[in-house]
Amino acid sequence: MIRDMADPHRDNRGAGGNGSRSFASGASGYLATEACSSPGAGLALRDDAGVLADIMLDDIQVAVWDRACPLDEGVVARACEAQLAVKSWLDITGLEASLRRCLPGEDYAGLREDLGLLVDMTACLFGVSGVGVRVTALQKPMCPRFHVDRIPVRLLCTYGGVGSQWLPVSEVPGGLLIPGAKQDGRYRPETVQQLQAGQVALFKGDTWRDNPGQGVVHRSPPMSPGQQRLLVTLDI
Ligand SMILES: [Fe+2]
Repeated sequence: MIRDMADPHRDNRGAGGNGSRSFASGASGYLATEACSSPGAGLALRDDAGVLADIMLDDIQVAVWDRACPLDEGVVARACEAQLAVKSWLDITGLEASLRRCLPGEDYAGLREDLGLLVDMTACLFGVSGVGVRVTALQKPMCPRFHVDRIPVRLLCTYGGVGSQWLPVSEVPGGLLIPGAKQDGRYRPETVQQLQAGQVALFKGDTWRDNPGQGVVHRSPPMSPGQQRLLVTLDI
């Protein structure tokens, strides 16, 4: 389906498209439709999976495939009840069997299907034969402080609950990432971007080629007592 977006060197700067579904930004909940319009600078968001290839563009730090969540809330609830926590390296070869080993049972059939799609897409996009997978049920923030990952790139999808948050590069105040320093009050809350359940995002990290020190500043979203998330991350 997206095999033709595997070439990381192609120039798709002219790729058009129109974002459509909701995309929360701070308290205003504005609708992001294009890259390079502040505060969405560095963001590509569309409702087709091909937008994920935009992460190859130098001026894009975050690419978001805007889609409805493919899993119902019951799956998320069962995963949280079971405190699901899977961490594995999955090769494209034999992917279906590997997913069955990691996520056995009919309860997770839909999750396996979607995870298979995301693993396949990621491997195609970056030309790799396997990816690192984490599936984690969360009832409290995993990484509540803003930070940058020292990896090339990460795919994220939250199936239930609130999604990950990030700051546009133009809205990252100096000193925000100093270890141990207080972060509240340093950034403008209205500039915080947030993924919605089901959306698939690629975040560039600090070790992306030609991107030293320019990784996406992000964090786990604050959660209220009783809230649940089912988070998938894929690393190459
Ligand atoms: Fe992170």
